[in-house]
Amino acid sequence: MEKEKLEALLEDMSLQEKADQMLQLMGMFYQLDVNAILTGPAAAFGVSEEDIGMAGSILGTYGAQTLMEIQKNYMENQPHHIPLLFMMDVIHGMKTIFPMPLALGASFEPELAGRCAAAAAKEAAASGLHVTFSPMVDLVRDARWGRVMESTGEDPYLNALMAEAQVKGFQGEDMKEEGKVCACIKHFAGYGGAVAGREYHTAELSERTFRQYYLPAYKAGVDAGAGMVMTSFNTVNNIPATANQWLMRDVLRKEMGFDGVLISDFSAIQETVAHGYAEDKRDAARKAVEAGVDIDMMTSCYSGYLADLVQSGEIEEALVDECVRRILELKNKLGLFENPYKDADPEKEKELILCKEHRALAREAVGKSCVLLKNEGMLPLDLKKKTAFVGPYTDTRKMLSNWAVTGDQKDTVSLKEAAGEVFDQAVTTYHRGTPFLDRDMKLVGFESIEWKGATPEDGEWDEEAEERMFAQAVEAAGEAEVVVMPLGESFLQSGEACSRAMIELPRVQMKLLRRVAAVNPNIVVVLFTGRPLDLREISEIARAVLVVWMPGTEGGHGIADVLTGKVNPSGKLPMSFPYSVGQCPVCYNAFSTGRPCREGDNNRFFSKYLDIPNKPLYPFGYGLSYTSFTFSGVMLDRKEMSEEETITARVRVKNTGSLTGTEVVQLYLQDVAASVVRPVKELKDFEKVTLQPGEEREVAFLIDNEKLSFIRADGTVGSEAGLFRVWIGNCSETENVAEFRRT
Ligand code: GLC
Repeated sequence: MEKEKLEALLEDMSLQEKADQMLQLMGMFYQLDVNAILTGPAAAFGVSEEDIGMAGSILGTYGAQTLMEIQKNYMENQPHHIPLLFMMDVIHGMKTIFPMPLALGASFEPELAGRCAAAAAKEAAASGLHVTFSPMVDLVRDARWGRVMESTGEDPYLNALMAEAQVKGFQGEDMKEEGKVCACIKHFAGYGGAVAGREYHTAELSERTFRQYYLPAYKAGVDAGAGMVMTSFNTVNNIPATANQWLMRDVLRKEMGFDGVLISDFSAIQETVAHGYAEDKRDAARKAVEAGVDIDMMTSCYSGYLADLVQSGEIEEALVDECVRRILELKNKLGLFENPYKDADPEKEKELILCKEHRALAREAVGKSCVLLKNEGMLPLDLKKKTAFVGPYTDTRKMLSNWAVTGDQKDTVSLKEAAGEVFDQAVTTYHRGTPFLDRDMKLVGFESIEWKGATPEDGEWDEEAEERMFAQAVEAAGEAEVVVMPLGESFLQSGEACSRAMIELPRVQMKLLRRVAAVNPNIVVVLFTGRPLDLREISEIARAVLVVWMPGTEGGHGIADVLTGKVNPSGKLPMSFPYSVGQCPVCYNAFSTGRPCREGDNNRFFSKYLDIPNKPLYPFGYGLSYTSFTFSGVMLDRKEMSEEETITARVRVKNTGSLTGTEVVQLYLQDVAASVVRPVKELKDFEKVTLQPGEEREVAFLIDNEKLSFIRADGTVGSEAGLFRVWIGNCSETENVAEFRRT
């Protein structure tokens, strides 16, 4: 629709009709829909019947047939026949579920993340959806926070590349195209900085930290053309993000140039009352619309009070028009005025969902996101050896993440099924050994929702059954040459509203590990998790540890590919694994402090703990391979550079092992002294190189002024003269260093 017609439409709409375009409700209000998924607190909405019929968008419902029916009925009743927008959390896959985002971060392959997003978009669009609430681009540093699984990790540079790739994967060059949906980057902003990793908690961030570390990935998403941004639940400078004019108008719209639709998170406008920022829903509506929030997700603040606020003169109607214009423009960008059903097509939906190509991509992504933390000659497995699989993830399909809300566990390939295709069944046994969770662990909130049939356990457990299973598993372990132990968090323990103060495996699983170790030392732990965990004891006991995250629909196949050596692991940690929860939040790009404590220092007055080391157990960027690589020293083509010049830094990387492998060559910089303190290291570039046995290759990185730039003491962005260190290695703890001076 031409711009003039859009303006004429806006002009012709009644005030209440405009307010209702700014209301978003769950699909269940439009028909008793089996697919509807509740992803937030279902408060008493107080939405009137007529407003329900006029809401501008729907979330949480999918399915081509369903959405076509809803759209048809809605448009017949909408006074101007304006089409609905259909939105959904297609976070890491629609029906073909890819590895969770933190796992994709571990691939250090933005191009892969982009391909997964594009495949998800095809399935989502054919299912009738127009917008996905993805990618989540929050920087995360605290393993206690359940939503680290949705992020791509602790580094702003990696997160920015992943954000850009996913937005482009979802939207393509034109979101109107078939198989494309509008991306919604979230949660703006600083949600990952929740104090103590406690969900929905305040984020206490200096503006400099906020801008230097938490904003870059959002900026990358906006620059990639994201059509939508979602507000975050937290406060920023003690003002709820969802009503924060500085954040939304000055930073997001003016500085970043975002001109798309800004949607609140679930009930977040009304929650400004609970925050103590708005007196009531009417006040909340006023403050949110003044901040330029266009859509009110799942509360009646806008639909109930905006018209009255305009009629009483408390807000200008122009504020409402600004929001509605952006909503109509998004519908127009998606081509909905010409074709309100866009790609919705039941036949196409059946053809695309879980198709061979998407499953193959999912399997590839699993193999590239696994991170090998330890391997004392155990992996790849020798298929001739008698092997016992012992652990709760041995034969379950429950390895989608908590945010795979549209996925079905029944479509997932279990590890046992995949192993059955490659291991000699005459010498392979499979035992769960124990439930996922300790009896005393109650997953609050999940017991009341039939969460995709996902009570943590298959069937009921009783003490006697548990003891019997345990004994059988330990016996099988004792009779095997190798014990593969698929252990891990329940998928219900990471995700939204899943903060954990203790980040160990359930006691019952640790008990199984110790009992197995007592009868067989040859243990390979395959770790399913949504977050970094405290792996001290596991790392001591097991002779190999492979992190597989929540791997998704092709989890079994992808993991078996790595265990058997069909795929040589190349994943690197996108987030530090702390030595213990006492270190959280922990990150590699920390500041030195005035009393840095170095390995072996025993001076009392250093920045350290009495009882644990400062270093994480496994650092950012760390991950092993089945082969080995050596790095030459760092070679610089010059020792000085002005801000107009560049330096090329090179290393030669050699595969010194007997298997083809891929290494992620990482470039880190340190600005040794500047107008504000700078991190001891910052990732500034990386390259994945695949080398045959014995092959050596030179890897070169260009260091330009942008890589030296930061937010200086005066608030401007740029570099400063002084000494710099440059590291090139295979993880953030590399000591392969050289120095140069910026003149
Ligand atoms: C949830 C989440 C957000 C999600 C939204 C809609 O509360 O915070 O990430 O997109 O509601 O489901």
